[in-house]
Amino acid sequence: MKAYAKQDFPVSDVRRFLEPGPIVLVSSAWRGKTNIMTMGWHMIMGFQPSLVGCYIWSENFSFDLVRRSRQCVINVPTTDLGATVVDIGNSSGRHIDKFAKFSLTAQAGSEVDAPLIAECFANFECRLVDSSLIRRYSLFVLEVVKAHVARAPRYPRTIHYHGDGVFMLSGPNTSKWRKRFNPHML
Ligand SMILES: Cc1cc2nc3c(=O)[nH]c(=O)nc-3n(C[C@H](O)[C@H](O)[C@H](O)COP(=O)(O)O)c2cc1C
Repeated sequence: MKAYAKQDFPVSDVRRFLEPGPIVLVSSAWRGKTNIMTMGWHMIMGFQPSLVGCYIWSENFSFDLVRRSRQCVINVPTTDLGATVVDIGNSSGRHIDKFAKFSLTAQAGSEVDAPLIAECFANFECRLVDSSLIRRYSLFVLEVVKAHVARAPRYPRTIHYHGDGVFMLSGPNTSKWRKRFNPHML
């Protein structure tokens, strides 16, 4: 196996290699206002309960909506929504109704008041279960309490972000390492 020759790299830019995606749209609602934000900084924190940690910048309108309502929906868009995903991330719901502006359909969920986005492949209804890290790190710990997923395709083409305006679109899957894989080790 080949070893790579390397050079110093700015630590502030390692996101280019670490951000896994997929990019998601987080929808929220509070006191009659709904909103959507684009999000790349999320991570799985547990399976049972199903926990997701995510970073929401305190300047975002969504920050207060999610913090106050203690709910949101994580929506997974596919590549056909790429331009909309970027436009949602480059505007603030403080000034516009993003559902109307981007012609997206708000659907009622069953566990939370925040709307699902019908045009997304999957919708995960979430409750904020730990707010203790918000003040210090803007880190919201969410529990997925209900999941809605389209039947097909099994592996949707999702959008992933390298930073600096560069995106990767998910490509072909492979099972060629499956025999080496120990499910107990995940
Ligand atoms: C690809 C992409 C990924 C983003 N990821 C995040 C993120 O993980 N956390 C965050 O706070 N903002 C993120 N943003 C920025 C927000 O989406 C942006 O500030 C948004 O306009 C906030 O909307 P709001 O003010 O209506 O809540 C991202 C933007 C883009 C384009």
